[in-house]
Amino acid sequence: MEQQTAKPTEREKGVEKKSTLQRTPLLAGNWKMYKTVSESEALAKELKQLVAGVSGREILICPPSINLTKVSEIIMGTNICLGAQNLHWANEGAFTGELSGPMIKAAGCKYVIIGHSERRQYFGETDKIVNDKMNAALKAGLFPIVCVGETLEEREANNHFKVVERQIRDGVSNLVKEDYLKLVIAYEPVWAIGTGKTASPAQAQEMHAFIRKILSQIYNEPLAQKTRILYGGSVKPDNIDSLMSQPDIDGGLVGGASLKAADFSRIVAYQAA
Ligand code: PGA
Repeated sequence: MEQQTAKPTEREKGVEKKSTLQRTPLLAGNWKMYKTVSESEALAKELKQLVAGVSGREILICPPSINLTKVSEIIMGTNICLGAQNLHWANEGAFTGELSGPMIKAAGCKYVIIGHSERRQYFGETDKIVNDKMNAALKAGLFPIVCVGETLEEREANNHFKVVERQIRDGVSNLVKEDYLKLVIAYEPVWAIGTGKTASPAQAQEMHAFIRKILSQIYNEPLAQKTRILYGGSVKPDNIDSLMSQPDIDGGLVGGASLKAADFSRIVAYQAA
């Protein structure tokens, strides 16, 4: 009988395709504080047409909260899902101007963005607040997208890994398995947001692999392999293909380019090498 020699698996060779890793790519549009209700309606309608034939990836839009209900009606039953950009950590209460997880869920959202660098920078959100908000989101039945990322100063001082490790350890530890599986991480280097300066695919991949390593230390390797890690920061139609070709980049969190249906639909239709 012919002797079979054990060949290294694709995984061991480091060339396993993302599609075999059970991580459905997620392309998320963060509309930030842009678009009135009628403008949101028009953008959602246009996008709905352009992405109608797309499958094998999850498409998400996060309009301003005041427009969630309207947009929810427009995308109901399509391949686009809805998310909010922020939530409060309490279920309800005397918190003027805030929105709770149950309210966001009831408006038709599946996801909520938490700890975006703009929230950290302008609204004083700490890792503790991020952690509280993540727990509130999970309690309300929402999938949290927790944002991490270093500033230019921190990268130049070579502290980027330390900063991101702290944001991950303090922000997303102590989850039970069922909740952990709902977590999405978005790596968004602050110096790349809205600046037109994207991290190179290699720079992004390096940090994504590092984040996955930290997650495997906090949880375990098989769970960390299931977690989607999105890249954000000047994602555009002309750089999405090379970003998505990296083994640990599982999607994008897109700001400016998500405000134009043609650009965002091209991003959604990325082709990874
Ligand atoms: P940008 O924003 O794509 O405009 O750089 C990304 C984000 O802040 O999520």
